[in-house]
Amino acid sequence: MNVLLLGSGGREHAFAYKLTQSKHCKQLFIAPGNPGTAKHGINVNIKLNDFEELGKFCMQQNISLLIVGPEEPLVNGIRDFFEADKNLANIKFIGPGKLGAQLEGSKDFSKDFMIKYKIPTANYKTFTSENLHDGMEYVKKHSLPVVLKADGLAAGKGVLILNDNEVAVNEIRAMIENKKFGNASDKVVVEEYLNGIELSVFVLSDGTNYKILPTAKDYKRIGENDSGLNTGGMGAVSPVPFADEAYLKKVDERIIKPTIEGLKNENINYVGFIFIGLMSVNGEPFVIEYNCRMGDPETEVVLPLIKSDLLEMLVACADGKLDEYELLIDDLAAATVMLVSAGYPGDYEKGKQIIGIDDIQNSQLFHAGTQLNENGELCTNGGRVMAITSFGKNINEAVSVSINNAKLIQYEGKYFRKDIGFEFL
Ligand code: AMP
Ligand code: GLY
Repeated sequence: MNVLLLGSGGREHAFAYKLTQSKHCKQLFIAPGNPGTAKHGINVNIKLNDFEELGKFCMQQNISLLIVGPEEPLVNGIRDFFEADKNLANIKFIGPGKLGAQLEGSKDFSKDFMIKYKIPTANYKTFTSENLHDGMEYVKKHSLPVVLKADGLAAGKGVLILNDNEVAVNEIRAMIENKKFGNASDKVVVEEYLNGIELSVFVLSDGTNYKILPTAKDYKRIGENDSGLNTGGMGAVSPVPFADEAYLKKVDERIIKPTIEGLKNENINYVGFIFIGLMSVNGEPFVIEYNCRMGDPETEVVLPLIKSDLLEMLVACADGKLDEYELLIDDLAAATVMLVSAGYPGDYEKGKQIIGIDDIQNSQLFHAGTQLNENGELCTNGGRVMAITSFGKNINEAVSVSINNAKLIQYEGKYFRKDIGFEFL
């Protein structure tokens, strides 16, 4: 079958790599893709939110399956657009509709949902311009740290964890009154701080049945020992050692089952990935956030561990038959190390020539922010440049293979964390 994949990051390169291992994949197209995805299929220059053009392309190329990588087109209703057009409605589709995508698109929606379905999460209150004054009073007296979250999508920057009540008062005002995160902070969720260990659980839902993929942990801070600014993710490991069978049973019973049933009860036909960000507090899982997609760089460790046919799983999912699919996982540890540009997550330069990628061995390289220049040379084109994924008997082994290979790739300003997975080594 012909498949269209939307997105252009390391996540999408990992999808492209796995999808084209399937004997069912006739032609893969990636919109817009990157030089890494181009090794597995044909990159198509259509913007993620240009639903009309994407629809036309699907008809022209006889696309049977559409997989949406990033959240934005989902929150903007790409699934609803395809469902409403009789020429597109029968294309198999991975990604929830606009309502289901609210799990990520609105923190207020997702918190209400968790409370309604008794899914463990931090206590919270939501404020808007209507009750900003109450909000300011509320955060003034809130225990510390206090967590402020912009309701809408804010490019991963909308969460503030503050250790000072006066600062929190100013911040909630800046978010609501001065639109610090644009319309995304018209509403602000004020939440209790949960102290524990984070991990991510990935679920693929066909609306009724679901499969739980390997757990992962990402490393968000730029500096070693989790110091410095937040990034999109500097690396990840999978599976997470403490998330054993007993722990996952708790997650399944208390979180995944009620989430799937809750969505059904809300008449939301959720077909796609649910990425559940968890905080493990004294061994008990709490939901920090939902995302309506896979994580990046978590995908770069989770998908390579899948032994069974990914494309078959996605087709079974789109057809509502996930119960008929057997998911097989490799009994290995995976780690990915992200190479980034100097200055990231602040300002950074692009266009630095990258050399040495042909020298790496025993790792899988996933392009994130790369492009070919006018001479056809591979260059940096983003803060996160590429992810190097490796396997081992344990995390330690996997990480050291990635680090050795990270040293072989050269470009001006290259930086990477050498301590990915540090707490499990
Ligand atoms: P989010 O954008 O929702 O992923 O939040 C960004 C990060 O903030 C999370 O990955 C956590 O590290 C942290 N965080 C969010 N909510 C809380 C909370 N209630 N308690 C502690 N940390 C949190
Ligand atoms: N790595 C976190 C995310 O994809 O949101």
